[in-house]
Amino acid sequence: MPFPLAVLVSGSGSNLQSILDKIQVGAIDAEVRVVLSNKPGAYGLERARKLGIKAEAVPHSAFPTREAFDAELVRIINNHGIGVGQGAVLLAGFMRMLTPEFLRAFPQRVLNIHPALLPSFPGTHGAADAAAYGVRLAGCSVHFVDEIMDHGPVVIQAAVPTQPGEGGEALAARILKLEHCIYPQAVSWLAQGRLSIRGRHVHVAGASPACLGDAAQPYMTSPGLEPGFLPAPPDAAGLMQQT
Ligand code: GRF
Repeated sequence: MPFPLAVLVSGSGSNLQSILDKIQVGAIDAEVRVVLSNKPGAYGLERARKLGIKAEAVPHSAFPTREAFDAELVRIINNHGIGVGQGAVLLAGFMRMLTPEFLRAFPQRVLNIHPALLPSFPGTHGAADAAAYGVRLAGCSVHFVDEIMDHGPVVIQAAVPTQPGEGGEALAARILKLEHCIYPQAVSWLAQGRLSIRGRHVHVAGASPACLGDAAQPYMTSPGLEPGFLPAPPDAAGLMQQT
């Protein structure tokens, strides 16, 4: 049976799309059973509906407390066969902190993608903060979610060199291309049962230590991406495009 997933989005859902695309071509043996958003207008909901996937808006403002909102999310997700020891929950641009009660409903089974090399630049503007700081290497991280924002054990990170004079938006766009590689890769490992957490450390069974791009497309990920998850060539991917 394909590994069941619930995905939470608040916006465009391009990371959701990258995962759906890899499922469609058979690179990930999983099934997105439900997509939920706290924002009724989130395009991520539309992406799911286009593929016939159940998509529901659950506006957080309709709930008296954070706990009540999260309890409703848990109820819906559980109804789709995702719970303790069953499947996983993916945060893909979901802009709400989850309560301990939510996390207890899916122990060690909630992943998030963040557009910075954690623990640097947590928070809502990771890529822009990195650009403003003037770092020479920026990137993105997939991590397990714990009760602290952008804090749980890291599964995979990708680094890219920054470009002189590059603004936050341009850097964020280049990082996003790599997010679309490392998030599907991490989900694939999770679905294959290859991730184990030891304290703050995530062990990825059988993964290579790293993979590197080249001069035309400089990047590095650790662990290494596997075939099927590598970035498209630079022309198509725009990894080095100046915008
Ligand atoms: C991504 O940059 C992700 O890292 C961050 O929010 C953004 C969501 O983008 N958490 P999208 O909705 O997946 O296009």
